[in-house]
Amino acid sequence: MALILGLESSCDDSAAALVTSDRRILAQAVVGQNSAHQPYGGVVPEIAARAHVDVLPGLIEQVLTKAGIVPAQLDAVAATAGPGLIGGVMVGLLAGKGLALAAGKPLIAVNHLEGHALSPRLTDPDLPFPYLLLLASGGHCQLLEVRGVGDYRRLATTIDDAAGEAFDKAAKLLGLGYPGGPAIEALARQGDPAAVPLPRPLVGSGEPHFSFAGLKSAVQRAAASASHHPADIAASFQGAVIDCLVDRTRLVLERSAAPALVVAGGVAANGAIRAALKQLAERHGRAFSSPPAWLCTDNAAMIAWAGAERFAAGLRDGLDAPARARWPLDAAADAVRGAGVKA
Ligand code: KG4
Ligand code: ZN
Repeated sequence: MALILGLESSCDDSAAALVTSDRRILAQAVVGQNSAHQPYGGVVPEIAARAHVDVLPGLIEQVLTKAGIVPAQLDAVAATAGPGLIGGVMVGLLAGKGLALAAGKPLIAVNHLEGHALSPRLTDPDLPFPYLLLLASGGHCQLLEVRGVGDYRRLATTIDDAAGEAFDKAAKLLGLGYPGGPAIEALARQGDPAAVPLPRPLVGSGEPHFSFAGLKSAVQRAAASASHHPADIAASFQGAVIDCLVDRTRLVLERSAAPALVVAGGVAANGAIRAALKQLAERHGRAFSSPPAWLCTDNAAMIAWAGAERFAAGLRDGLDAPARARWPLDAAADAVRGAGVKA
């Protein structure tokens, strides 16, 4: 049994967690920075980095104390090394390096996307490799074949906005504040998803990629027309995103032999999205798995768990491991034509 401390600081959540290789979460703490960024309608990188400096040391102390663990008992320190806002990534990675050095323990530099990709295996012991993963977050919307630890094949990606980014932009247009996903989901419950006709970009296309920019523009027009109730716009927008996610995932699922479909990343916290993808998996005779909602949005338990999986595979990193703003899971994947492609 290995004991791993995980640190996360790639966006606007500072987090620390202690996780064992036999899937026990001994302690975890997440501090969001919503109120710091709210006036700006999005995450301000410099504010985020400074907040991580303020908060992270206390969180590390908190989880160690709560679990009654001293650094000498750790087997490794895992820290997010990218991709993300570079200032924040540097804060968490340097904290991890300092701790690893002081305690004489190995460092594991974790790709944040691998944290999301392996997160379902923390709570689902019956999810073997390979599986087809829809990774939908604030910065990414990809379909990946997860073949094993460190072994990913990207089968589809977005040609413009990420799914979570679409939720955030739509929420901003509706005056709902940041982050937009939970606010849209709540408002959508009171609306009619058929009330506002919105496009389903790329649905029906033979290429499996995603696109959400046109949907955002259509929401902008619907909001500006003032002829629709905001709840109806929210419900119609969420319905359109679901149709896009389900159609694109279906295409890849039909071409894949993977026995299970998994959805992870912040957008997977959305109950309606999870339900639609579960139905899709069932229709195609595949198992379905998704981490609990708290494990979908950014947290350090998934970083510690990815660290545990990498530790078990014998993977270690040196103290010269770089912080990376960009770090695709599948470095060999072709670039996709389109504006503002997210790896
Ligand atoms: O994975 P995550 O916490 O951070 C990144 O790695 O990006 O994802 C954050 C994204 C945000 O865009 C947020 O609006 C979206 O996930 N999100 C949701 C929900 N909760 C968070 N989107 C839809 N419905 C939700 N309930
Ligand atoms: Zn994330």
